[in-house]
Amino acid sequence: MNKKEDKLDAIVALSKRRGFVFQGSEIYGGLAGTWDYGPLGIALKRNIQNIWWKRFVDDRTDMFGVDAAILMNQKVWQASGHASGFSDPLVECKKCKHTFRADQIADPKKCPDCGSELGSGKQFNMMFETQVGVVKDESSKSYLRPETAQGMFVNFKNIIDTQHPKLPFGMAQVGKAFRNEIAPRDFLFRAREFEQMEIEYFVNPKEWEKSFEYFREQMKGFMKDVGLTDSKVYELEVLEADRAHYSKRTIDFEYEFPFGKKELYGLAYRGDFDLKQHSDFSKVDLSYYDEEKKERFIPHCIEPSFGLDRTVLAILCDAYTEDEMGSEKDSEEKEKRVFLKLHPSVAPFKVAVFPLLRNKPELIKKAEEIFKTIKKEIPATVFDDNGNIGKRYRRQDEIGTPLCVTIDFETIEKGTGVTVRDRDSGKQERIGEVELIQYLLKKINRTN
Ligand code: GAP
Repeated sequence: MNKKEDKLDAIVALSKRRGFVFQGSEIYGGLAGTWDYGPLGIALKRNIQNIWWKRFVDDRTDMFGVDAAILMNQKVWQASGHASGFSDPLVECKKCKHTFRADQIADPKKCPDCGSELGSGKQFNMMFETQVGVVKDESSKSYLRPETAQGMFVNFKNIIDTQHPKLPFGMAQVGKAFRNEIAPRDFLFRAREFEQMEIEYFVNPKEWEKSFEYFREQMKGFMKDVGLTDSKVYELEVLEADRAHYSKRTIDFEYEFPFGKKELYGLAYRGDFDLKQHSDFSKVDLSYYDEEKKERFIPHCIEPSFGLDRTVLAILCDAYTEDEMGSEKDSEEKEKRVFLKLHPSVAPFKVAVFPLLRNKPELIKKAEEIFKTIKKEIPATVFDDNGNIGKRYRRQDEIGTPLCVTIDFETIEKGTGVTVRDRDSGKQERIGEVELIQYLLKKINRTN
């Protein structure tokens, strides 16, 4: 593969071929900026989400999970500044009428599609508008949320009143967000419907820097958990002019995608902007009383924000590998193989189990027995007896299954165990049935 764009095309094709991700509404010609996850894609996405939730919620005592409604009172978006300011610069071609994001085209006067003159720009609000209820007027207007964050700010008082947390504490949420992007592009990178994993961490204003630095490290830790290559991640201190209206400091974590170095995650210091705005607009007091210091104040907020779909894309880009392999017993000549070098923590299947041959009932019976035993301990295990063994290895390589267990005649005749093949090296080891589960678990958890 030569060109970098080819790599993205290959990933899109693999995603469709193997059931990771499909174009949304595909049979009707698609709907731009929407993607549907298939069985393998949802497994990958859930694994990422679970790792995130474990690190940031389950393993801590200072974080409270919420799942707020997507539709919110329109006043939320007036208070947050999104109703007036969540827009991108839009230009339209005078001739072909195609629209572009003004900041993403080479020449702001010339249409990239037909070369004609572009009209003067305007700001385009990216929120999807909708009506709630049967009466269609200004008062029934609502929006599909463009960020999950506001669902947490509006529940700040509920958390204080029901959980009685002490500062610093945080709220965490995973959920859909919607943006009517002018130019959705680059597969899952810029979609119109996507998922975010966000934290709003509330601190004493005097201590914001400590928490900011802490979450900077935590975000790097998460990237490691899901297996992203360190050297492909860059931190960018976002200049004031480029920061969102609520942010006093932002660091973007950029990832080296095949189409360039682009934002993967953001870490923002939102100050007291949101709680203050919601206090003003709702007339509900959103201050916090510190019992020890006997002081009342509006906490400041540190926001680590993660795109879930962008994580899926970064992981696929990181894992996509082409090499030549001739180490299988049944293939003498080297052949090109495509495989996903996924970290076992995110791989949709951790183990695949095969009988060596598909027309030998005694092999199939033993393989099914071993499959059931493994599946009890490692639920993400799959059984495959389709096609020849070489093809099965290739199929599992392509979906990133780290380990393949093969039951052969030695297993049943000599009782010498099974072969376990490692996806990345293609090497096989013979492992006794008694040690098998422990061996597999060690490999999956990378503890050996
Ligand atoms: N609450 C802060 C916030 O929403 P953002 O930088 O606009 O900040 C946070 O979005 C993250 O959401 C981004 O870093 C990215 O991972 C993801 N994201 C934003 N827009 C996206 C889109 N159109 N498609 C996919 N992911 C997107």
